[in-house]
Amino acid sequence: MSVDAIIGGQWGDEGKGKIVDLLSKNVQIVARYQGGANAGHTVYRNDQKVVLHQIPTGALRENCICILGNGMVIDPIGMLDEINILKQLDVAVEGRILIDYYAHIVTPIHKCIDRTNEKRTNNKIGTTCKGIGPTYTDKYNRIGIRAVDLLSYETLKEKIESRLDFAIQEHQIAMDELTDLKQEIIEFYAACKNISIYIQDTFKHLHDNEEMNILIEGAQGTMLDIDHGTYPYVTSSNCSSGGISVGLGLPGSRLNNIIGIFKAYTTRVGGGPFPTELFDKDGEILGKIGKEFGATTGRPRRCGWFDLVAARYSVAINGLTHIALTKLDILDSFDTIKVCTSYDLHGKKITNLTEALNNLEDIKPIYKELKGWKSEIREYSKFDQLPLSTKNYIEYLESELKVPISIISIGPKRHQIINRN
Ligand code: GDP
Ligand code: IMO
Ligand code: MG
Repeated sequence: MSVDAIIGGQWGDEGKGKIVDLLSKNVQIVARYQGGANAGHTVYRNDQKVVLHQIPTGALRENCICILGNGMVIDPIGMLDEINILKQLDVAVEGRILIDYYAHIVTPIHKCIDRTNEKRTNNKIGTTCKGIGPTYTDKYNRIGIRAVDLLSYETLKEKIESRLDFAIQEHQIAMDELTDLKQEIIEFYAACKNISIYIQDTFKHLHDNEEMNILIEGAQGTMLDIDHGTYPYVTSSNCSSGGISVGLGLPGSRLNNIIGIFKAYTTRVGGGPFPTELFDKDGEILGKIGKEFGATTGRPRRCGWFDLVAARYSVAINGLTHIALTKLDILDSFDTIKVCTSYDLHGKKITNLTEALNNLEDIKPIYKELKGWKSEIREYSKFDQLPLSTKNYIEYLESELKVPISIISIGPKRHQIINRN
């Protein structure tokens, strides 16, 4: 009946997991179309914190089937860990988790290449070391291993052995890792066998039942998109809404609502330009109150004010129909809240991100200051109850972005949400 998408509007970790959890209440399918275990999506289930990396967050709603689409890169060892976490939570998994035949497989070799590349370049990109880049490289190099290959042990073994030989021959991996790598490959074979029951044709689920409500769960964020982000400081997939059609085989014409998730400020983890990054006390406070540590790697996230230039671009690139603004409660204690309205690039005013996308290190953010509300907002349930300055902040962003902010998240728990519809 409806196909809605949740897309990270900034540099990832906007709170997509929480919003997917909220919106998956009345849907039958939740599907991921890109990325893999580099994602870390946090949700609270009966006050218990759960972090999922590859399995869509909708897994916690037992009415949902979860599809891991062809555009994803799947790590079988990580999958098994996640399936076990769900089983421990008494969440049924059998028949509910479907890995598409043609999703690509992250092997221990790819993770090793990722680690080796990071070491060799002194952590230039600061990847999650989950093997994402090397797996997508193999996909486009047409030497990838796909989920369907896991259904035959002989095929898989042959592909792994030839990929390992190639990695050694091309010096893609550090030789002192070889013994551990061979051990991990044994664990990998066992994991592949275990997850093979989840591998199937997902086409019919997405196409043969028009009665279903489908929710699409993006990972990472628009500014990390391989084409539209801050290249080369990006991930290796199309995280913006354009990735949906190829990563699930679901054409754009099927999409109804595209909901961009934006934090009320901005964070980024890993290397690369970040126009509104703060190096002062305010940045420290955002990180501390916002508990800004990566859900996948535990690394501290860099923090800054809301960036309207990047957000306007994100609205356009994704065709957003709605916005969910998250972590608004983290701004509770500030006297003044700043919003970046434009950039100064060598004396030129920039309001259109593409004019500065390749020079973001050189820009100076220009800010507008808004009055803080200096009170706790976590337990409100209606927009009208919010302090005037909070409403002003939301309405200001809304007027600049020209997209309705229909969901406002004011705490990590399920009930800490204001729905304006
Ligand atoms: P995702 O990758 O976009 O799903 O986001 P992460 O899970 O990596 O990071 C978001 C963090 O913020 C998680 O720890 C969430 O529990 C938390 N969170 C989400 N929404 C809110 C909110 O409105 N307020 C607060 N205080 N925390 C939130
Ligand atoms: P979720 O879905 C934030 C970042 C990494 C690094 C760059 C490339 O939780 O929002 P990769 O391992 O993908 O090759 O790393 O992308 N990155 C993320 N940052 N949230 C994520 O996912 C991320 N996934 C990757 O830190 O800078
Ligand atoms: Mg995350």
